[in-house]
Amino acid sequence: MQKIAFFDAKPYDRESFDRVNNGRYEIKYFETRLSEAALPLADGCDAVCAFVNAEINRNVIEGLVKRGIKILAMRCAGYNNVDFAAAYELGLTVVRVPAYSPYAVAEHAMALLMTLNRHLHKAAARTRDYNFSLVGLTGFDLHGKTAGVIGTGKIGRVFCDICKGLGMRVLAYDAYPNSDSGLEYVDFDTLLAKSDIISLHCPLTPATHHIINHETISKMKSGVVFINTSRGGLVDSDALLDALRDGKLGGAGLDVYEEESEWFYEDHSAITKQNKTLSLLVSMPNVIVTSHQAFLTHEALSNIAVTTLDNLDAYFNGAPLVNEICYRCIGDAGAPQGNVALCSKRCNGRCQKK
Ligand code: NAI
Repeated sequence: MQKIAFFDAKPYDRESFDRVNNGRYEIKYFETRLSEAALPLADGCDAVCAFVNAEINRNVIEGLVKRGIKILAMRCAGYNNVDFAAAYELGLTVVRVPAYSPYAVAEHAMALLMTLNRHLHKAAARTRDYNFSLVGLTGFDLHGKTAGVIGTGKIGRVFCDICKGLGMRVLAYDAYPNSDSGLEYVDFDTLLAKSDIISLHCPLTPATHHIINHETISKMKSGVVFINTSRGGLVDSDALLDALRDGKLGGAGLDVYEEESEWFYEDHSAITKQNKTLSLLVSMPNVIVTSHQAFLTHEALSNIAVTTLDNLDAYFNGAPLVNEICYRCIGDAGAPQGNVALCSKRCNGRCQKK
């Protein structure tokens, strides 16, 4: 039976993977994140399964390949944390879970927006204290407001639908607009200038790094509510903080943070060390930070387990790898379909040459 070294394992991962695996693979669960130091844990395994905040750089990939690991199964959609050039060069196959529940993430984005707008986080804290005052809790109708959605792939489009369901106008920006979507696409600056709410749903690539910065924030309406459930690196956190402090931004709902890998997914409450910008953000009344949990629904966890184990089955059975990615597929700009013309997956169902 093939063995999988499963890193960053949380109780909810074990529950869904054990249920779906049903004895197919021997899964060795490790709480630690995949890193150079953790590599010996993969000794004797055939595959490695890792998650969103592991830094899978050339050294880690070299270490895996040296240990005879042939496949890295990422149990997430985003893949900005993997050195694909090194993986390709060294012959490590990388698969991922491209979609497990766009609804989970889009609904969380809307939950952040609604909580911020109607001050539910403050109201819940107040009523626990037997404070039933409404002063300071005034929100605005979402109906009739304009949502600017950056990135209209699987998640972005569900978010657009939710906004439309609430009677909002939706303006969309995408580097690769989808002409069949029925969305009103505008250029980036128009979206910034006209939106009351801006929500990010594009991948983190060299082209999108710090797409939200001092300059782009200055082009937004005053009081705009900003939501990021995509990747922290899309936003210059200090620029965001400045804009929140001077009132340019009305609020921010953040499920991701630029330097989250050191903090998110673990309980640091007993430790005095803190990240300065993150501490300032979490302390602001008009900011809600959740720790990269937008994906966390039963349906998504189940789909992640099913697709990850199916990816491994396909690999070990010599079948085409529909969810494999390499540096040629992803291209530079994060095109949704990748640069398929350059990728050999078209010919043999797999990316890797070796
Ligand atoms: P997708 O690949 O279906 O859609 C991404 C969209 O972004 C595409 O339409 C693409 O054309 C567009 N895009 C690419 N480059 C762009 C650019 N430079 N400017 C504007 N748009 C650009 O991806 P999906 O599934 O909708 O996921 C979106 C992102 O959500 C992922 O990349 C990931 O970072 C994040 N995510 C967050 C999760 C969470 O738990 N917080 C869970 C899953 C995904």
